[in-house]
Amino acid sequence: MANKKVEKKPVKITETVLRDAHQSLIATRMTTEQMLPIVDKMDKVGYHAVECWGGATFDASLRFLKEDPWERLRKLRDGFKNTKLQMLFRGQNILGYNHYADDVVEYFVQKSLANGIDIIRIFDCLNDIRNLETAVNAANKEGGHAQVALSYTLGDAYTLKYWEDIAKKIEDMGAKSLCIKDMAGLLTPYKATELVTTLKKAVSIPIDLHTHYTSGVASMTYLKAVEAGCDIIDTAMSPFALGTSQPATEVMVETFRGTEYDTELDQDLLSEIADYFRPMREQALESGLMSTKVLGVNINTLRYQVPGGMLSNLVSQLKEMGQEDKFREVLEEVPRVRKDFGEPPLVTPSSQIVGTQAVLNVVSGERYKMVTKESKKLLSGEFGQTVKPFNKEVQKKCIGDVKPITCRPADLIEPQLESLEKEMEQWKEQDEDVLSYALFPQVATDFFKYRETQKTKIDPTLADKDNQVYPV
Ligand code: CO
Repeated sequence: MANKKVEKKPVKITETVLRDAHQSLIATRMTTEQMLPIVDKMDKVGYHAVECWGGATFDASLRFLKEDPWERLRKLRDGFKNTKLQMLFRGQNILGYNHYADDVVEYFVQKSLANGIDIIRIFDCLNDIRNLETAVNAANKEGGHAQVALSYTLGDAYTLKYWEDIAKKIEDMGAKSLCIKDMAGLLTPYKATELVTTLKKAVSIPIDLHTHYTSGVASMTYLKAVEAGCDIIDTAMSPFALGTSQPATEVMVETFRGTEYDTELDQDLLSEIADYFRPMREQALESGLMSTKVLGVNINTLRYQVPGGMLSNLVSQLKEMGQEDKFREVLEEVPRVRKDFGEPPLVTPSSQIVGTQAVLNVVSGERYKMVTKESKKLLSGEFGQTVKPFNKEVQKKCIGDVKPITCRPADLIEPQLESLEKEMEQWKEQDEDVLSYALFPQVATDFFKYRETQKTKIDPTLADKDNQVYPV
């Protein structure tokens, strides 16, 4: 009797060390120079994709590292000859915190693909799929892979039926794959079985699970998800894994070895790559860039359903106000504000909006006595539709008689590219500069000025050589 052949269903691995992992653990401060020497080896692994761009990396490059993010992308593309490159894209918010006109979204997608991105992971903080349409259509038009990510969250409205319905809509709108984006680490292992089983029945496109280790369950969640048919999991090389980052790549690879899900990735090669990143971790720990606060398990994320990044933001906001003793009160206020605001998932930018409002509600001593501009915008429908209605009383107190909008917010935004081009033309050195400016006008302008100064900087080695100065 022949041995029963086990059908192979290798799970695919998306490596996040060049994006989410360092965004989660060291405030997005990994530089291009730190990335490039290891690209060659990473390219040989056989990852499904390497996530390396978008999210907060764009802002952080311009603002803190004085690097052109587009230049980073081109350099990574040069190095990764065989591996797909992936970015994270916030739907109509692109990589910023506001809604942009369709022409800016389309141009950004086009330029991202032209500079080397293969897979664009697109999400909306309210899961309002109208906010995804323009980006998905643009990616499809340009021949890119549009992956739509559902912002995973808990709450009365978020039933299996809800996820099933929205997944079907996403497949219908032309997404090539579907991601469950669990930014807070709320998806527990047996819930993952349920969710993935449901989604696999609902759609035929591949399913990717993205979670964070914050609450300590992430690798168990991946195991159950893969057993239920999840096609792709997101992991980070061990020196930048765990804590608020992803489960470790090497651990997940070993977990599935010899099973039908075997990734067949080379553990020796992974080990060499880990050796490269380890000193970077040690250095970050020594300098305090990586703090023990983001490592370990934070069970408050499960108790309060608050993402790890949001917890640390709340702490620093309260610190600035000298009101750190109010932390617990604020944590308890977060779910209440979230409910008043239509129970949105908590992910950029909704996490900042809800978090800041919760802080104000507590420190001002009266709920909604002080209201941020962003809270008003959210309650006016300017970010899109929430899964549940707003608390009418709160809405009235915050926006008065302003009539909320119900259409797709970007329908009310006139094309912006032409005027942006005019505003920044004196700084333009490449087509992409207008997009940096569109997202972060002040930060990009500061960067352009810095770039100018670099051009006229004197190279001391040349000056020494023959006592002359050369611009480099
Ligand atoms: Co993430």
